[in-house]
Amino acid sequence: MQSKRILLIIGGGIAAYKALLLIRLLAKRGHKVRAVLTPAASQFVTALSVGSLTGDKVYQDLFSLTDEAEMGHIELSRDADLVVVAPATSDLIAKMAHGLANDLASTLLLATDKRVLLAPAMNVRMWHHPATQRNLAQLKSDGVAFVGPEKGDMACGEYGLGRLAEPESILARIEKLFAGDTSIPLPGRRDGALSGRHVLVTSGPTREPIDPVRYIANRSSGKQGHAIAAAAAAAGATVTLVSGPVALADPPGVSVRHVETAREMAAAVEQALPADVFIAAAAVADWRAASEQPEKIKKDASAAGALTLVENPDILAGVSRHASKRPALVVGFAAETNDVIAHAQAKLARKGCDLIVANDVSAAGGAMGGDSNTVHLVSAGGVVDWPTMSKDKVAAKLVAAITSLLARAERSA
Ligand code: C5P
Repeated sequence: MQSKRILLIIGGGIAAYKALLLIRLLAKRGHKVRAVLTPAASQFVTALSVGSLTGDKVYQDLFSLTDEAEMGHIELSRDADLVVVAPATSDLIAKMAHGLANDLASTLLLATDKRVLLAPAMNVRMWHHPATQRNLAQLKSDGVAFVGPEKGDMACGEYGLGRLAEPESILARIEKLFAGDTSIPLPGRRDGALSGRHVLVTSGPTREPIDPVRYIANRSSGKQGHAIAAAAAAAGATVTLVSGPVALADPPGVSVRHVETAREMAAAVEQALPADVFIAAAAVADWRAASEQPEKIKKDASAAGALTLVENPDILAGVSRHASKRPALVVGFAAETNDVIAHAQAKLARKGCDLIVANDVSAAGGAMGGDSNTVHLVSAGGVVDWPTMSKDKVAAKLVAAITSLLARAERSA
């Protein structure tokens, strides 16, 4: 195996002595280790023993002028192929989860642009504490990878989860990564149920020009579609959002294509394929003016009374019946004011999609532009009614439902 450079941050815990064994194992495999000791770690192992094993300077102080002159902390955080924290204490995990940077170790972890692997070690109650579990969930969704902890007897006399993974297991995880295992994402990329998936979402209205100042549009705010894109990204998916004109910020971690017309939206969707999942949440204008007048139509012009409309391409139906790039799961929306379920069932067949999310736009709160939504999931398997909830909640629940529907669709394919 090619030799790699590893920045090893040693946290303060009784398991810190195992970091010495890890350094020896890594060195034996030809890897170069540069070590950072937290002040607490230096109570358990000395810089002298760590430095003797790495054959390099051991970094300990954020405010050391000598260290900064030799290698600044930002450079230190990036001059490695991988950052490993072993043992990762509850304190370091909490600092990372909250983005604190008040010492060398936490500053490096916030500044790095490299993959980060944590090997946690702590008392079993500390591990199971809701605060630690919250922090772990946050770090997982931030894209941090983990090895261990393991179950067993603890130095404190208790038994349970919280023992540092054995150095051999940490080495194996590191080498698996270097052998091309991309399950450890780069910082900013997220681990999750949809990791490795491409989810393509349309959102917002389209705007169909009549003349240079007028257009045909609708009341769609894009809130539901944008919330779905954000929820899919939070679940680890690579998300492309094709958005019509909306007054919303681009969701974080999502690649956004801004379009105006239905035809532009159709072209952007085609370009973004292939995808594992297509979610058509946009309120695409069904019709457009047959021809856009090059000049503003005058109030008294006869053209105003005779606006000729032609049908727009049906993006959802096109993707559902795509000859070569049909996503494994295609989801459409239906905004209805009456006979919601019957219309949605007819739409399911007409569009050729796998699921219709029918929203009752006559419901309290008003789906169009409002912050809450009342939806019914209509598929060949039947109808599932969800109570009225916020669009963010609908998005999160829908992403969870899509994750299991996708797995089912792929099993039966
Ligand atoms: O036919 P209707 O507009 O009611 O269908 C709604 C569903 O079809 C939504 O999922 C919408 O995004 C999608 N649609 C589309 N292209 C169109 C019209 C609707 O993708 N031209």
